[in-house]
Amino acid sequence: MADIGIVYFSMYGSTLELAREIAAGVREAGGTAHLRRLPHDLPDDVAESEGVAEAQDDQDDIPYAEVEELTDFDGVLFGSGTRFGSATAQLQKFFDQCGPLWAEGELIGTPAGFFTGAATLHGGHESTILSMSTFAYHQGMPIVPMGYSHEATNTTDTGGGPYGPSQLSPQDGSKDGLSDDEIAIARAYGARFHDVATRLAD
Ligand SMILES: Cc1cc2nc3c(=O)[nH]c(=O)nc-3n(C[C@H](O)[C@H](O)[C@H](O)COP(=O)(O)O)c2cc1C
Repeated sequence: MADIGIVYFSMYGSTLELAREIAAGVREAGGTAHLRRLPHDLPDDVAESEGVAEAQDDQDDIPYAEVEELTDFDGVLFGSGTRFGSATAQLQKFFDQCGPLWAEGELIGTPAGFFTGAATLHGGHESTILSMSTFAYHQGMPIVPMGYSHEATNTTDTGGGPYGPSQLSPQDGSKDGLSDDEIAIARAYGARFHDVATRLAD
């Protein structure tokens, strides 16, 4: 049984939904999932706007991520929505604060994985996960990909693929919440990540 940290930033709540499903997958596999949010750091008018305020309220009970805590976990998952094909500044800022862990090699050998979401199908699901993953290369963290380890990765017409779980959140409101494929992939990935982390921790 492994302790899995799930560090994410979610402005509108979709990445949070995905994080919750991944956490459910970790728990179904017998592990403990530790959800950790990142501060939004937004101007008041944006933070109080429709959609954002509700999403922030919805995660009030989730503790903020602490850099030092990463070393307590057997594996760490990082999630962020897409910003112009890459990760949010909020997640990148957290990565930037991990210099001391890098200097001491404290995360070497701790498995990592990544999840994301985007408003369009070809707007950054893959590039955002790949851009986040450079953090793991530099920290010496073995990357656990999704692969085609669940049948839904072959058939999904929303989010989720071999790089990791993702969600599609069209701005026109044509999709409400996560699709069945996104949920299936997120849960399977949580379980698979837990399995790999458990084996590496032995
Ligand atoms: C500044 C900004 C840039 C964005 N860039 C992209 C993009 O490059 N491609 C895309 O498909 N969606 C883009 N989006 C949409 C978000 O990635 C998408 O809505 C995501 O699901 C939000 O996740 P959240 O609900 O957890 O905040 C962008 C949104 C914002 C606010």
